Amino acid sequence: MELRHLRYFVAVVEEQSFTKAAEKLFIAQPPLSRQIQNLESELGIQLFERGSRPLQTTPAGQFFYQHAVKLLSNAEEIKTMTKRVGMVEKTVTIGFVGSLLYGLLPRIVYLFRQQHPNLKIELVEMTTTNQIQALKEGRIDVGFGRLRISDPAIRRILLREEPLMVAVHDSHLFATKRQGIYLSDIVEENIFLYPNHPKPNFSTQVRGLFSEYSLEPRSLKEVREIQLALGLVAAGEGMCIVPESARTIQLPHLNYIPLLDDAAKSPIFLAIRSMDESEDIRSLFDSIYQVYDLEAIKYDRTVI
Ligand code: BEZ
Repeated sequence: MELRHLRYFVAVVEEQSFTKAAEKLFIAQPPLSRQIQNLESELGIQLFERGSRPLQTTPAGQFFYQHAVKLLSNAEEIKTMTKRVGMVEKTVTIGFVGSLLYGLLPRIVYLFRQQHPNLKIELVEMTTTNQIQALKEGRIDVGFGRLRISDPAIRRILLREEPLMVAVHDSHLFATKRQGIYLSDIVEENIFLYPNHPKPNFSTQVRGLFSEYSLEPRSLKEVREIQLALGLVAAGEGMCIVPESARTIQLPHLNYIPLLDDAAKSPIFLAIRSMDESEDIRSLFDSIYQVYDLEAIKYDRTVI
């Protein structure tokens, strides 16, 4: 049995048709059918229910499919990691979600650059969901995001839980509440959420937060991005929930007030390929924790 057989079998299962699988694989249907027959005779079992439309796997076929997918994913990972180990000029490509640029990301990357002048460091903005695919395909080596996305080929490490704040206009009563307010205080307000797509994203997290406390805000309006949401708040149109690091965005009449609810936090995750044990990744962790120490941010180093 070769990897080629697994690839063919997985394509037929996913397309539920030999014809569509053959098109996807750019081969003719008769050789594809022959390869699957060879696989079945080698295993001595039937992988597909005969005569089923659309094509269904037998219980053994389903078991074989799940393990074939894992094996193919491991083979891809070995290829990516081997290329990386063999690279002469080492490059670390970092994927990140845009909102992290307002926080510690620039400082962490700058420190990492200074401490590793021989490394080529590249930054690429992308959603957390896209980071998972980019890691698997070797387009990035590290991803920084805010969503809890699980994938067997990816190791996700929680770096910290960042507190959330509410951006309010000078003229609002809450602007004087420097000690903080609760989510229940703002349910009657006009609240701007961002970004509006692709989902899931930070706006999904904020909606989930209200649900966690069984609160139903009267008006939630989604806008394209954080600058737009904060601009509208500065114009006196409503409020907006942001991670604490967004405080660096300063506009006239804009105030940031802490949210006091225990769950009012946004996680920051680092994602790497499960097999990646490279020295560069360990060094990146060192840079992150050095910045956390300077900022007196608590973290749990036992995770790496
Ligand atoms: C942070 O704000 O904790 C952070 C941001 C980007 C990368 C790593 C950590």
